Amino acid sequence: MTFDRSLKIAPSILSADFADFGREIRAIEAQGADWVHVDVMDGHFVPNLTFGPPAVKAFRPHVKTVMDVHLMISPVDAYIDAYADAGADILTAHIEAGPHIHRTLQAIRAAGMKAGVALNPGTPADAVADLMDLADMVLVMTVNPGFGGQKFIDMTAKIRRVRELIGDRDIHIQVDGGVDPVTAPLVVEAGADVLVAGSAVFRGGSVDNADVYGTNMAAIRKSVTG
Ligand code: DX5
Ligand code: ZN
Repeated sequence: MTFDRSLKIAPSILSADFADFGREIRAIEAQGADWVHVDVMDGHFVPNLTFGPPAVKAFRPHVKTVMDVHLMISPVDAYIDAYADAGADILTAHIEAGPHIHRTLQAIRAAGMKAGVALNPGTPADAVADLMDLADMVLVMTVNPGFGGQKFIDMTAKIRRVRELIGDRDIHIQVDGGVDPVTAPLVVEAGADVLVAGSAVFRGGSVDNADVYGTNMAAIRKSVTG
């Protein structure tokens, strides 16, 4: 993966058909997805459960772009090698998931992946100030994690502060939660370059009617680029 700050859309397969992940992934990539966002939930860190390493490993051969795995689990460290083995390109852990995020980010990189650090809406930007040399991405949550289809929470001031902390380092800013053609321009203007979107991409479409995914992604892109 080479670094650039161009706009990237990362559809969240949390909004896909859970019985048909392979075809859903291929459909969103064919329609122009830049990355594929995979939401892992444990029913403990967040009040919802999705899937674990064997499922993520099964997704891997379908992903030709970037497999971006967002862990909403606690603890994290015991599972890092399993997600490396599953083929994650980027593995993101929440700063709130345990007392040793510094060690977690080191371990993610040591396992050969890019390391992301995620911030819940209640966590301030400066919580990542001492992690900048260990992170390849900062994920600013714009909903409380656990479910798709929630209302966007305005975190633009936090995104701006994270952008300042990053300076000239090659670190992505990802935004996740309630991103659609109305909210996307706000977060991009504040400094985000990777937009996760679940319901706004999958709404109204299906693998047999995948043009809708493309139309939905184009609407997000157009809202940002004009
Ligand atoms: C929320 C997940 C998100 C979710 C976004 O906990 O991390 O990735 O799928 O869904 P939308 O775009 O519908 O808010
Ligand atoms: Zn996510």
